[in-house]
Amino acid sequence: MDRYSDLLASVGVERGLIGPREAPRLWERHLLNSAVVVELVPLNAAVVDVGSGAGLPGIPMALVRPDVRMTLLEPLLRRSEFLREAVQVLDIADRVQVVRARAEEHREQYDVVTARAVAPLTRLAGWCLPLVAPGGQLLALKGASAAAEVAESGLDAELIACGDGLIDPPTTVVRLRRGA
Ligand SMILES: C[S@@+](CC[C@H](N)C(=O)[O-])C[C@H]1O[C@@H](n2cnc3c(N)ncnc32)[C@H](O)[C@@H]1O
Repeated sequence: MDRYSDLLASVGVERGLIGPREAPRLWERHLLNSAVVVELVPLNAAVVDVGSGAGLPGIPMALVRPDVRMTLLEPLLRRSEFLREAVQVLDIADRVQVVRARAEEHREQYDVVTARAVAPLTRLAGWCLPLVAPGGQLLALKGASAAAEVAESGLDAELIACGDGLIDPPTTVVRLRRGA
């Protein structure tokens, strides 16, 4: 995680993937908030992180859960190239793959789909629910807007606080399950 943090603060900032103001607060605003979401991920799950950007939340989740097979899905060339480099540098290529594609054009299914800061909940659900295998779940990491987005969407979603007692504030996750 230290190596990933260093990579984001150097190459990530130089290439405009992370704002320079984020560099001093990477751990509390980005890495730990992402990592705690693993408490909702079953053992040995196949996970896809949609719109992974510089690897959030997918890379921290993969670093703390070596049992998980992680796909980082990112359509933009510059970002997907950074992700490929990060996977090499962090030596996690045996369990983390990078796919350059939009969610709507990706055809695989996964036990868990994650997304942070990608789209409003209704649009995100439209893109991501087809990627959720039967019995699986979509985990959308949301900020203060979470409850309002759920209410507006009319979707049957749960609001979950991840990392309660570990980080303050906890990460707000909107969970949508797909029936078995
Ligand atoms: C604001 S960034 C967030 C990146 C990262 N998840 C984070 O939290 O730092 C949104 C990302 O979603 C990606 N994205 C936008 N539309 C997408 C789509 N239809 N399918 C997959 N990724 C998409 C963008 O390329 C961008 O990298």
